[in-house]
Amino acid sequence: MSDVFDKCSNWKDYRIAKATGLYPYFRSIEASHGATEVEIEGRRVIMVGSNNYLGLSADPRVKEAATKAVEKFGTTCSGSRLLNGTLALHEELEAKLAKFLNREAALVISTGFQTNLALSSILGRHDIVFSDRQNHASLVDGIRLGFATERKFRHNDMEHLEQQLAAAEPDSGKIIISDGVFSMEGDVCNLPRIVELAKKYNARVMTDDAHSMGVLGEKGRGVPEYFGLEAETDLTMGTFSKSFASLGGVLAGPFEVINYIRHKARSVIFSASMTPASIAAALKSLEIIEAEPQRRARLLDIAEKMHNGFRAMGFDTGVSVTPVVPVHIGDQVKCFRFWKALHEAGVFANPVIPPAVEAGHALIRTSFMATHTDAQLDRVLDTFEKIGRRMEVIPETRPTVYEPVQIARPGTGVRSNKASEKWAAASEGQLADSGGFSLDQLSRMSSREVAGKIFDAVEQLTWRAASLQPAALRKLGGASKRLWEKRGELPGLLLEKGAHFFMRNGHDHGNNSSQAERN
Ligand SMILES: Cc1ncc(COP(=O)(O)O)c(C=O)c1O
Repeated sequence: MSDVFDKCSNWKDYRIAKATGLYPYFRSIEASHGATEVEIEGRRVIMVGSNNYLGLSADPRVKEAATKAVEKFGTTCSGSRLLNGTLALHEELEAKLAKFLNREAALVISTGFQTNLALSSILGRHDIVFSDRQNHASLVDGIRLGFATERKFRHNDMEHLEQQLAAAEPDSGKIIISDGVFSMEGDVCNLPRIVELAKKYNARVMTDDAHSMGVLGEKGRGVPEYFGLEAETDLTMGTFSKSFASLGGVLAGPFEVINYIRHKARSVIFSASMTPASIAAALKSLEIIEAEPQRRARLLDIAEKMHNGFRAMGFDTGVSVTPVVPVHIGDQVKCFRFWKALHEAGVFANPVIPPAVEAGHALIRTSFMATHTDAQLDRVLDTFEKIGRRMEVIPETRPTVYEPVQIARPGTGVRSNKASEKWAAASEGQLADSGGFSLDQLSRMSSREVAGKIFDAVEQLTWRAASLQPAALRKLGGASKRLWEKRGELPGLLLEKGAHFFMRNGHDHGNNSSQAERN
């Protein structure tokens, strides 16, 4: 007999990650130093894993506004917007956001996630939603909660989108929904083509501008402004948890639509409203976003410095052209080990593994704040280079040439970085095996290299084998499979080369490596 809780006790990933010291989640921050540095387990680390793009969460003006709102209205409204939870502050923020975003109306909702869930209220049985495969989880769930049919198109693949539109029932209601800036890869949607297709096939358009509001466009209004297509984009959403240094979300568009959602969306009417401190912080941030364009300019300069800094070392930052700077690692376990080494060397970044990215595309996601200093950024680059070389993600010496990234500055219309061939190859599955090596190659390596390779392989094999079901064991892929098949020959090689290395250097590989990274 099965038990609903079986899946929880059978779930091994957590235990393996904890046991190997590679568990990267729910890290508790004990103190913040101006948001760009934080303390974790008593260690001060540079924060490059936050979406606080303009650094406003530490701005004294934003903090003061939040404090005053608490003094005036208390800590919470204890109710939904529909009933007792609407303050004059909510209405002030909505009016200012509608004006800022050039829309008839705006609705603020308690989180960005709930804002996308609210979308479900307009998705009826006879409607079809065309959604980019890489859209944020909150959009995926918002669509799932509605009654409309969903048609997913391949990421930023406009031909596929057109095929889907052409095949759809012409009389049905249609809406194309896409992230403006994709949260993990940092590329920009092809809004100009989406708008053309929407006109051709009579569809509405919505962008999720969580990562572009406050960041892209001359005035910081996000992707629709960046492409000069605000009038053609029917709905735009944003979150306050990123550039607005707060918590909450906004949906803006035609009055009738926003008013309908305000009354019908379950994530609005059955959930308590944004707290006074959150609204006041978002209001003050909006004022600063409008008054201080230099913050956006600095952020984009930083994005350029970091993309090109990483690329000059031989790292691949993928298709990104924004302050979301993903550093491609490939293998999931290697990615966790890279994350751990970064953490021990004083850098807080986020490991991103499937299903958030495709298999074989694990990455370290870095994202930057306008308030990072050059000294902090140089330290981050230096740390990545040391670890990247040691873990063989980048070559020992810097490449002689690299293709610089063109950043999505106002007026450029740049959408993605085409120079990322390695990444493109990986998406075709050609690099899925990049951790592999033959015994012949192994015998030509130095003792140190062999020891490192064997350590990596055993760790990966252990991890994979422990989480595989018996049927899947037969399908072991790439390096794991070859190792498994040749396992009889490994001890010889290990004795000949690896053991020799261990005898001279001690066998505590973990301690040696973290020492090397700190040097
Ligand atoms: C693209 C996108 N949309 C929506 C959200 C949800 O926003 P929030 O975190 O404010 O709930 C996020 C946040 O992670 C996001 O990245």
